Amino acid sequence: MTIERGKVACIGSGLIGQGWAALFALKGYEVVMQDLSDDVLERAVARVRNHMRFLADAGLGDDFNSALGRIETTTGLVEAVEDVVLAIESVYESYEVKKPVFAEMDRAAPDDAILASSTSGLLMTEIQKAVGLHPERCIVAHPWNPAHLVPLVELAPGELTSEWTVERTYTIMEDIGKVPVVLKKEAPGFIANRLSVALWREALDLVDRGVASVEDVDKAVRAGPGIRWAIMGPYLTYHLGGGAGGIEYLMRHIGASKTSWLETMATWTNTPESAIEKAIEGVDEMVGGKPLEELEAWRDERLAKLLGLLWKNE
Ligand SMILES: NC(=O)c1ccc[n+]([C@@H]2O[C@H](COP(=O)([O-])OP(=O)(O)OC[C@H]3O[C@@H](n4cnc5c(N)ncnc54)[C@H](O)[C@@H]3O)[C@@H](O)[C@H]2O)c1
Repeated sequence: MTIERGKVACIGSGLIGQGWAALFALKGYEVVMQDLSDDVLERAVARVRNHMRFLADAGLGDDFNSALGRIETTTGLVEAVEDVVLAIESVYESYEVKKPVFAEMDRAAPDDAILASSTSGLLMTEIQKAVGLHPERCIVAHPWNPAHLVPLVELAPGELTSEWTVERTYTIMEDIGKVPVVLKKEAPGFIANRLSVALWREALDLVDRGVASVEDVDKAVRAGPGIRWAIMGPYLTYHLGGGAGGIEYLMRHIGASKTSWLETMATWTNTPESAIEKAIEGVDEMVGGKPLEELEAWRDERLAKLLGLLWKNE
């Protein structure tokens, strides 16, 4: 499937909307950012400029000045979507906020425009219930923060989403350098947030039960599994962990001992207050008052190097 690089609307210009806007503009799309007030949009554009400058300097995007010229803003939702090929919604994470936005985008956008949601885990089948005209062109396209740097985007179609919508969204995402995966069946939290939250519960519990400090949990992930996860997922990792016998040997023999660990692991579904308090205290200690901008710059510089190493020539 081929695409012309038309106009893209980024609905909601917070953290995620800013990442989408920077990526699309740098890859040659016209971008219109929409939000509830001009003040919010002004702050958002300043951050998008920084993201684009950073990506262009890191060799991960095209010319910064022409990209900047492709970005406009509006507080009008109808005006934002009326001539787009894609509208990507990144407003607050609730059906109450997202459903009316989708209903209005559907009424105002061209019939063949894709309407995508950045939701972290809500289901498109539910959002589609609010869409009267063309629910088949609605799909979840879940990015990872920072959206302008992390390649993954999870495409999660709802019950009414057409195959054409999945294919077209896939093509557009590849065109801007994303790495799309498509869910075969809907699941709250999709693939990567479900995996992430399973690890997160155990990370919180290890600190809450006094097994390790926040800093050591982070260090253990980063220096151990994390460095492997940058190149392999859990299946290939465990296949190699089984040596000559591969995944089958690992699962049937070595893997059996994991039952006793699993029996002692956290199973709660509402985070205990004590775990929240210890997480806040531990992160405060670890971060030592460093401003957010400094931490983001530190992260982005390393992510850009990793991207250059891992994804540029794949
Ligand atoms: N933050 C993350 O790590 C992350 C990662 C992936 C996906 N997401 C998802 O992306 C979406 C946005 O998250 P975020 O972190 O950017 O949130 P955010 O709070 O930073 O930004 C949300 C923006 O939406 C705007 N907004 C709210 N209602 C609106 C409306 N009716 N019309 C237009 N704009 C509206 C707000 O003014 C705000 O600027 C959520 O669904 C979230 O789950 C977040």
